[in-house]
Amino acid sequence: MNIVILGPGAIGSLWACHLSRAGHSVSLWSRQHNNSIYLQQDHNPAVQFTCNSKEKLASADVLLVTVKAPIVEPTLEQIAPSLAQETILVLMHNGMGTAEAINTLLPNNPLVIGTTTHGAFRPKPNQVLHTGNGYTEFGGFNEGGKRCDFLQTVFEHALPKVTWHSNILSALWHKLAINCAINPLTAINQVKNGHLSSPNYQKTITSLTAEISQVLNAEGIDTSSESLLSKVNQVIEATSENYSSMHQDIVHQRPSEIDFITGYLLQRAKAHNISVPTNEQLFQHIKQIEQNHD
Ligand SMILES: NC(=O)c1ccc[n+]([C@@H]2O[C@H](COP(=O)([O-])OP(=O)(O)OC[C@H]3O[C@@H](n4cnc5c(N)ncnc54)[C@H](OP(=O)(O)O)[C@@H]3O)[C@@H](O)[C@H]2O)c1
Repeated sequence: MNIVILGPGAIGSLWACHLSRAGHSVSLWSRQHNNSIYLQQDHNPAVQFTCNSKEKLASADVLLVTVKAPIVEPTLEQIAPSLAQETILVLMHNGMGTAEAINTLLPNNPLVIGTTTHGAFRPKPNQVLHTGNGYTEFGGFNEGGKRCDFLQTVFEHALPKVTWHSNILSALWHKLAINCAINPLTAINQVKNGHLSSPNYQKTITSLTAEISQVLNAEGIDTSSESLLSKVNQVIEATSENYSSMHQDIVHQRPSEIDFITGYLLQRAKAHNISVPTNEQLFQHIKQIEQNHD
């Protein structure tokens, strides 16, 4: 397939290398590179990729969007005039809330949304390291996207494990719920995920999960505050040595994805008239920290 990666950062570069080795014609669309770049993933031979080719963009079967959530809409707005209506748009980032805007911007394109738990690190622009094996989940957002379940085989062949969901929103909500409970607390307190297992945090995490589970239920997702709390504590234990992406963004004074994680939860809570004061407090705290960045 002709695949263009929009935003070849850590995750985008990882997929670019894997999809290319799987035999696809992959090119990159980036604000940084010109014409072409060699990318090396771990100890594999470096691969040359064409960059920023309008011809490649116009003939793309798939546009894999791997920029962070706040940049999805502005970057797609810029290239929308160059895209064919048949190009399948695949959004892969943490958080929720971008797909609605992209479906309005490009209503005729099949739209697929997903998330990955693979770990990737880009120490320099032409090198990417696969730092943790994970899995990827996809599903269609609009009618055209729902007919693209063949992508499961395409992506699975390149970098397993890949699951296709007939109800991807439910899978994304479960991931968002865990991110809402873990990420802001680790960023505010500047701690690894595992630190949240300390008894000091349990009261706050219990309040967070009670509020989050009410919003999930209102969105039609079957969960309870007890099962969500238990799942959050399992993830804290399983990822105890990890720093969350929000922790990393705050430490490096980069804009975080809070608007698309807790911010999205708050939006949906407001729509359902549900009070979520503990989540609101963490949201405001992260916003305050971001405002004080240099
Ligand atoms: N890295 C991981 O291990 C990991 C794991 C799971 C999920 N995720 C999620 O995957 C998504 C991508 O994360 P990442 O770690 O790959 O991020 P990243 O390394 O920062 O890559 C982001 C990409 O977006 C581009 N970009 C940033 N600002 C831009 C702008 N204003 N205009 C145009 N392009 C812009 C960057 O361009 P430059 O190349 O010019 O910097 C880069 O190519 C995030 O939602 C993240 O939470 C990441």
